[in-house]
Amino acid sequence: MKVILINGSPHEFGCTYTALAELERTLQEEGVETEMIHIGKEPVGGCLGCGYCYAKGKCVQQDMLNDVLEKVLAADGLVLGSPVHYAAIAGQASSFFDRLFFASGGRFANKLGTGVVSCRRGGASAAFDELNKYFTISNMPVISGTYWNQVHGNTPNEVKQDLEGMQNMRALGRNMAWLLKCIEQGKAAGIALPKQEEKIMTNFVR
Ligand SMILES: Cc1cc2nc3c(=O)[nH]c(=O)nc-3n(C[C@H](O)[C@H](O)[C@H](O)COP(=O)(O)O)c2cc1C
Repeated sequence: MKVILINGSPHEFGCTYTALAELERTLQEEGVETEMIHIGKEPVGGCLGCGYCYAKGKCVQQDMLNDVLEKVLAADGLVLGSPVHYAAIAGQASSFFDRLFFASGGRFANKLGTGVVSCRRGGASAAFDELNKYFTISNMPVISGTYWNQVHGNTPNEVKQDLEGMQNMRALGRNMAWLLKCIEQGKAAGIALPKQEEKIMTNFVR
């Protein structure tokens, strides 16, 4: 059982990292392997909508995204993290996550997902909503906690003082580990993954 955590902040060890690290520690305590990936400070190109990924199963742009895609495809769970920028997820994170999910072409189905946002003061639930939409269009069971998954702070030290937010990170870790174990046991007992129908695309309302 392996979970990939993606830190979509320009700050490798900032507030988003502090929340993700608490969640990651809990997963590890529960016996789940983890890998945290930082998307970096370099500009991240947005999705070009070119359709290359339909044919090739990976993105046409030459950056770290395709390596991360392979790692997520091999994993059982995915955690997306982003700071709140103007009541939305950060621009770099948005570009990265759009391309990651588009290039996945539905192959993240049945992996567990959860999103975490970090804000100084406001806009967290709008940003959290954005993250959840990646999972809920992808047949991914979403892990919930004891609140909407936000921490508050402008520095890692302030985030650590958000005791309720940090407690929620631990709840997410335990809830994700529990469901991963249930799925493992279910597979061993012969419970098949849900059948996926061929996708119907209705592009306009008739
Ligand atoms: C461009 C920009 C916009 C921001 N917008 C908001 C906002 O709308 N609401 C808020 O509470 N904090 C906002 N912040 C503050 C960050 O969300 C907050 O400091 C966050 O915890 C930083 O996480 P990080 O250290 O992982 O980057 C903004 C920060 C930046 C740089």
